[in-house]
Amino acid sequence: MAKKNFTLNVNGKVRQVTAELDEPLLWVLRDNLGLTGTKFGCGSGECGACSVLIDGEVRRSCRVPVAYAALGREITTIEGLGTTGNLSPLQKAFIDHTAFCCGFCTPGMLITATALLAKNPYPSREEIITAMDNNLCRCGSYLNVIEAIEAVIKAT
Ligand code: FES
Ligand code: FES
Repeated sequence: MAKKNFTLNVNGKVRQVTAELDEPLLWVLRDNLGLTGTKFGCGSGECGACSVLIDGEVRRSCRVPVAYAALGREITTIEGLGTTGNLSPLQKAFIDHTAFCCGFCTPGMLITATALLAKNPYPSREEIITAMDNNLCRCGSYLNVIEAIEAVIKAT
């Protein structure tokens, strides 16, 4: 398939890329733009490691064609949530509560948790579990993730 030029709005910046129409956004982010915080886990929409925000909604970037993402939509990756010197409250809480082991699932967890608190700043534990349910962690850090999210809620 012939490649085309796309304009993406990623983390508040306009980026130009060349890719095939149906190329998954995940690979464009990682390979074309160097945003390797977004991870490849399953490639089939199951694990959540590749989660990004598109217009504020959590999307599995392994299942989103770049052509869809380029339609003037705002894309936020883990790199857009905070920086080393300016972490988001959730990023700080994940560190404080050791809400990871290998860290592979962490970007997707943080993206999902960020979307949750943006829509519902005071979710119950049940609502947190439901929201995070589709982000898989092979290290079993689930309880620490929930506690980190609850810490942010308490501090708000
Ligand atoms: S890599 Fe996209 S959901 Fe697993
Ligand atoms: S911390 Fe290792 S997969 Fe979640």
